[in-house]
Amino acid sequence: MFSLREFEALARERLDPAHYDYFAGGAGDEVTLRANEAAFGRLALLPRVLRGAGKLRSDVTVLGHRAATPVLVAPTAFHRLADPEGERATARAAAAAETIMIVSMASTVAVEEVAAAAPEAALWFQLYIQPDLAFTEAIVRRAEAAGCRALVVTADSPVHGVRERELRHGFDDLPDGMCCENLRDVNGDGGVRPIVMSPSISWDHLDWLRRITALPIVLKGILRPEDARAAISHGAAAVIVSNHGGRQLDTVPATIELLPEIVAEVRGAVPVLLDGGVRRGTDVLKALALGASAVAIGRPVVWGLAADGERGARRVLELLRAEVEQALTLCGCASVDDLEPGMVRRS
Ligand code: FNR
Ligand code: LAC
Repeated sequence: MFSLREFEALARERLDPAHYDYFAGGAGDEVTLRANEAAFGRLALLPRVLRGAGKLRSDVTVLGHRAATPVLVAPTAFHRLADPEGERATARAAAAAETIMIVSMASTVAVEEVAAAAPEAALWFQLYIQPDLAFTEAIVRRAEAAGCRALVVTADSPVHGVRERELRHGFDDLPDGMCCENLRDVNGDGGVRPIVMSPSISWDHLDWLRRITALPIVLKGILRPEDARAAISHGAAAVIVSNHGGRQLDTVPATIELLPEIVAEVRGAVPVLLDGGVRRGTDVLKALALGASAVAIGRPVVWGLAADGERGARRVLELLRAEVEQALTLCGCASVDDLEPGMVRRS
């Protein structure tokens, strides 16, 4: 395997077709799903030459946490569908690659066990705020106790996206013996509750969350400058420009197209991250040159996991790191700080 895209074909061979389509699919006509990747292809890089760049480093620090390269693991659900070790394997891969893993609230391994499997991993926890705030608080306490260092609140899911690939397979439940362990009602009957995505969730809930936890809150699913501004005024420590990998509202623009206007609005007040369609080191450079502090990848990590478990996920992260470092050098940069908007041109 020499590139991220190659992992998808192997993953597809290894996965149950319904599970492959769960991971791969997007909402509606999958316009946004395709757009995320295609938009990177319409941007060209313009390198500088003879800058005597010297020793290269591609590490970044986001919210005080170092990542060896500016690529985080985006939260994706149900890793045990891809590998028996599930999110344990992903966390070990992230730790080996020295990057941050955002653990999905919909993980199939409990957050405590994910943390225990990779004690040296830097974990953030993704949260869908549940209308039952006492239950949400219990989940937050678990993530805190497990050592997660930030809460990533996903804001783009007032309802679950409809993905027709899932409907065609009749994929609406996890196999026996697998469930969303973080939704276990540990203070109640011990049963696993369904994830509720609710249109009633509002900025008031973010204020509530801000009051009950000292962890930094990252708002994921921001697509408009005014919402980035609102996120900051409600105490967000970072925002992620994300359209959920094209799985929620179809026909929203590619994230890389929206990034510049959000960066312009935020003006450095908080880090701006991006996910959606990042498949090459050059994609990472484009996002950083346009003002992102880091990016995250979703599906490629799952493909690595399905292809070869922990090793595969690690290889995906290491391949991308090598590509980032190669591209930085070819752009005349010694670090991500040397990237500038002028290195990206619409072609
Ligand atoms: C996701 N995503 C997601 N986001 C989130 O906040 N919580 C979640 O549980 C999930 N689950 C999930 C499952 C699967 C199979 C996919 C593909 C995606 C969205 C994810 O965090 C991220 O926004 C996208 O995956 C980024 O796009 P790419 O890298 O997959 O193109
Ligand atoms: C998904 C949910 C779990 O995208 O966020 O499948």
